[in-house]
Amino acid sequence: ATVTAAVHAILHDHAGLEGPLLPVLHAVHARFGHIPPEAVPTIADALALGRAEVHGVISFHHEFRSTPAGRRVIRLCRAEACQAVGARALAAHARDRLGIGWNQTTEDGAVTLEAVYCLGLCACGPAALVDGVPVGRVTPGTLDQLVATA
Ligand code: FES
Repeated sequence: ATVTAAVHAILHDHAGLEGPLLPVLHAVHARFGHIPPEAVPTIADALALGRAEVHGVISFHHEFRSTPAGRRVIRLCRAEACQAVGARALAAHARDRLGIGWNQTTEDGAVTLEAVYCLGLCACGPAALVDGVPVGRVTPGTLDQLVATA
């Protein structure tokens, strides 16, 4: 009921806006840190859209999560320059160490692993964003430490 009430309030704030779906989704995401699945039917009904349509927009925009993020969010760069200096092996190490794939969160809620595509830190790759902070020259050792302190 809390989610529905909050979503109704957000919808109310955005009433009359042209093309309200994205602003509404951003507001819901900002409020909860993800878009709770139970928000989708409320949003779809209020904006006279299909649920599949709303789901489609959520999954198209990678910045939207459907589940709560872990305490630490590690986003590894998967673009070319970083790949050339070991990002692929680093990603494999991260997935092994955490036992999860991209866009997943460890069962204990400690770490979420996500991909990004170039952070403008190509000169000091492999690069990552750790809780929104850019980090260069990430090694498997750095990663283990980030996981251990999450
Ligand atoms: Fe990774 Fe540019 S390719 S930061």
